[in-house]
Amino acid sequence: MSALIIDGKKISEYYRQEFKLRVDQLRLDGIQPGLAVIIVGENPASQVYVRSKAKACESIGMHSEIHAMADATTEAELLQKISALNEDPRIHGILVQLPVPAHINTQRVLEAIAPDKDVDGFHFVNVGALIFGTPVFPPCTPWGVMKMLEYSNINVEGMDAVVIGRSTIVGKPQALMLINAGATVTVCHSKTKNLIEHLQRADLIVAAIGRANFVTADMVKPGAVVIDVGINRLPDGKLCGDVDYAAVAAKASAITPVPGGVGPMTITMLLGNTLKSAEQKHPRHAHAGETHFA
Ligand code: GUN
Repeated sequence: MSALIIDGKKISEYYRQEFKLRVDQLRLDGIQPGLAVIIVGENPASQVYVRSKAKACESIGMHSEIHAMADATTEAELLQKISALNEDPRIHGILVQLPVPAHINTQRVLEAIAPDKDVDGFHFVNVGALIFGTPVFPPCTPWGVMKMLEYSNINVEGMDAVVIGRSTIVGKPQALMLINAGATVTVCHSKTKNLIEHLQRADLIVAAIGRANFVTADMVKPGAVVIDVGINRLPDGKLCGDVDYAAVAAKASAITPVPGGVGPMTITMLLGNTLKSAEQKHPRHAHAGETHFA
């Protein structure tokens, strides 16, 4: 079987074209959607992600600003920065790049972001809306996965889905989104017994464990759909996902590559949430996304 390669770059391009048109409409009314990204410390991977987010904003005409804060920044200083951005009318989305240094309490930081600017969807108000099935700002990575499946005409209703990973950023919201879409969902993680048996009966696997080439062909049912959220750097500097791509692609019906799969979609969904936030603050634009994206 030759798997459908779900091309995250192509799907991203499709959405970004639509978003750019909507940004243009807002700008005709003198409104430029703005995203503020805060990064604390000097984690090199985080620095790359933050720059990519800012560049993507600019590519569709959105305003972006990066607030780089020293590793020694106190929690109080970070909360003060968030408070100022909550009040700033040019800013429609605020994102604190995770992880933050260990001396800062992540949950307190995320809950300081105004829910109507929480374009990551991590504030408990937005997590609660997701549980009810009416998310305003769905978390970007799992939402990107749902949009890739939708674009590829893969209907998850009735599927046995296995999510590997139970993080707040990916695994848990991914499970909720798949439940909302009608899948039967099992969430596996490092403590799961019989992980391989769970995987072998899955119609859909979403791998988000952060271990290079963890999912091998013998763990995958013929014809399964395999989504790889992992981004791991090998000793030779190359990027690879959580899935042993070549071997699994020979068995799956559809698969995402790394790079060029889920990664670009995460940033695209962040643009979408920031745009939506700006539109919702202006009555003439508040429903612009409903026919396409929202
Ligand atoms: N670090 C890794 N992924 C993410 C994400 O989606 N949002 C934030 N804020 N930090 C991250």
